[in-house]
Amino acid sequence: MNQKIKYGIIGTGLMGREHISNINLIEEAEIIAISDTCENSLNETKSLLNNDIKIYSDYNQIFNINEIDAFIIATPNFTHNEIVKKALNTKKHILVEKPLCSKLEDCMELKKISSEYPSIIWVAMEYRYMPPIQKMLEEINKKEIGKLQMLSIREHRFPFLKKVDDWNRFQINTGGTLVEKCCHFFDLMRLITKSEAVQVYASGSQGVNHLNEEYDGKIPDIIDNAFVIVDFINGIRGSLELCMFAENSEMQEELCVIGSKGKIETGVPADASGKDSSDVRIGLRNSNEPKKEKVIVDKNILAAGQHHGSTYFQHLEFIKSIKNNLLPQVSLNDGLQAVAIGQAAELSIKENRVIKMKEFIL
Ligand SMILES: NC(=O)c1ccc[n+]([C@@H]2O[C@H](COP(=O)([O-])OP(=O)(O)OC[C@H]3O[C@@H](n4cnc5c(N)ncnc54)[C@H](O)[C@@H]3O)[C@@H](O)[C@H]2O)c1
Repeated sequence: MNQKIKYGIIGTGLMGREHISNINLIEEAEIIAISDTCENSLNETKSLLNNDIKIYSDYNQIFNINEIDAFIIATPNFTHNEIVKKALNTKKHILVEKPLCSKLEDCMELKKISSEYPSIIWVAMEYRYMPPIQKMLEEINKKEIGKLQMLSIREHRFPFLKKVDDWNRFQINTGGTLVEKCCHFFDLMRLITKSEAVQVYASGSQGVNHLNEEYDGKIPDIIDNAFVIVDFINGIRGSLELCMFAENSEMQEELCVIGSKGKIETGVPADASGKDSSDVRIGLRNSNEPKKEKVIVDKNILAAGQHHGSTYFQHLEFIKSIKNNLLPQVSLNDGLQAVAIGQAAELSIKENRVIKMKEFIL
């Protein structure tokens, strides 16, 4: 397949526009149609695209364009289930934003009805594609640090941004913070441990953010800080520390993976820090000299989004998979499992108990 991959985008809010800016940097891809129910979002998007682009307010119309190779679904979480179901009728490739759905039962429905799907369904787990994290994964796979035992992920960042119609202020729309935001981290834990979660314990609250906001008489109900511990079937344990009122952090995410012989650590610079590079540090127990690998991201790629270049690198892999008939690197099941852990963590906080994953997934 030598022609450009033709994309249709559903949802042109913040993330839809990040996809567009990144696809614009890729020679072998082009966007031929967009759809959004909000005129403002469409207007803000037009300047990123050619004049001959097809624009629809009803996403059902975009599914009728036969020349499109791949659809991106970047609408609010609670709409993914319905839109993916309709997209499945096209038999085209689909990249759906995380979380796959806001509820695990909706993810399960999609998994059931798409088992024979002839094209790629890829859940957008951008964090896998952040260059320092990619480098860390490469180092883990060398197995120099021995048998993995523990991993920790810390995210210290700014509060949730404003979204169209403020959909992200309520758990019912997002699945809750530990589904909406932290599915990325549970996905990374599964990728690193190569295992499934067996039980989850979490403690968290809405301590600071959005408490003075009100929408139709309702105050937002999304937590902004948490500790989550995830035990995996193969004995590795993971921890997540989330704080969403920590704007002035140099590193937005810090990751550390520890094995029987050493550890690997890295960080993802916060956008506001202006840093385009970070180190991956490999420290072995029997050596006084840690090895450090510097990872630098091209400034044009950094400028095309808010996820440290990951959207660009994810699209390169998505396109490669389409062109070479490969399986998706982030499958619908990966998306589902990450939602399941997030949902378990939310339930653990509500009920103040350890949640066994078999309560959700047999
Ligand atoms: N991978 C990441 O790191 C990352 C980051 C941010 C957002 N996201 C995900 O991307 C998705 C969109 O988030 P966002 O930040 O762009 O939100 P947003 O509110 O900025 O944009 C969502 C857009 O979808 C449109 N929309 C809503 N219903 C629609 C429908 N039925 N048909 C067509 N358009 C519709 C809205 O009008 C809006 O323009 C969410 O699932 C979110 O979780 C992922």
